[in-house]
Amino acid sequence: MIVPGSASQALGAALAAETGHELAAVDYEQFPDGERMASVDIGDTDRAVVVAATTTDASHVELLQLQDAAHEAGADDVVTVLPYMGYGRQERAFEAGQPVSARAVARAISTGTDRVVLVNPHEASVTDFFDVPCSVVDAAPQLAAPLPTDLTDPLFLSPDAGAIDLAESARAAYGRGAIDYFEKVRHSGTEVEITPSDAVVEGRDVVVVDDIVATGSTMSESIRVLHDRDASGVFVACVHPLFARDARTKLERAGVTGIYATDTVERDVTATSVAPVVADVL
Ligand code: R5P
Repeated sequence: MIVPGSASQALGAALAAETGHELAAVDYEQFPDGERMASVDIGDTDRAVVVAATTTDASHVELLQLQDAAHEAGADDVVTVLPYMGYGRQERAFEAGQPVSARAVARAISTGTDRVVLVNPHEASVTDFFDVPCSVVDAAPQLAAPLPTDLTDPLFLSPDAGAIDLAESARAAYGRGAIDYFEKVRHSGTEVEITPSDAVVEGRDVVVVDDIVATGSTMSESIRVLHDRDASGVFVACVHPLFARDARTKLERAGVTGIYATDTVERDVTATSVAPVVADVL
């Protein structure tokens, strides 16, 4: 039985179709004091797959409730799929006195599940924070499918060295194109400096591939640098389209040609599903 969180309803349905599992009826309530309650009907099955992107604090609580509700309803095997793991970028304390937030949420999630599946966590090391078996799936190859098939001399580019594997996965799935990466220095939560490589981009279509678009600072700076160097089209491909605050406007103002993302976070730029790769590990 697939049990979808409120932020992952389309992915839940896609996963149910992909696996042939039933899609559970879930009820999301909110009380006058602001507290929420998610309840689920899992019928007479004893296995529940809870699928919930934890993009907000409320969705973290909702996930814990869904896990607990599934147990209460009789499930004795609960698998938790985190299409997007909130707080995953706080994988260490950057200064004394700060929490390792990814560890804190992982421990809480572990209490209600038998195993966890993560889609492209920002740092693979977060898998160690779970107290139950945790596996990772790579959705970057899914990003190739929605791209135009007629890209001109395509270059798959990551905005920093850390995302080069994603660019390579997307390029391999697309079937042709070169690979390169830029250097990125982050000055603050919203300010980044991009140093381009020597790659010639004039007249070429460039696909900038990253795991997350959050504030859009990384992508908008990359797009500007590429247009300054006379790239033909500049396409953005990301696994997790958080698109916080004015991220979409930033990308449009920078001159993005097209934006393609998966359904780990359900946004209007979602153009492909991670359901097939998640289904493979269920
Ligand atoms: C950082 O290393 C990540 O891979 C992304 O580049 C980053 O999270 C994007 O954030 P923003 O959209 O705020 O620049």
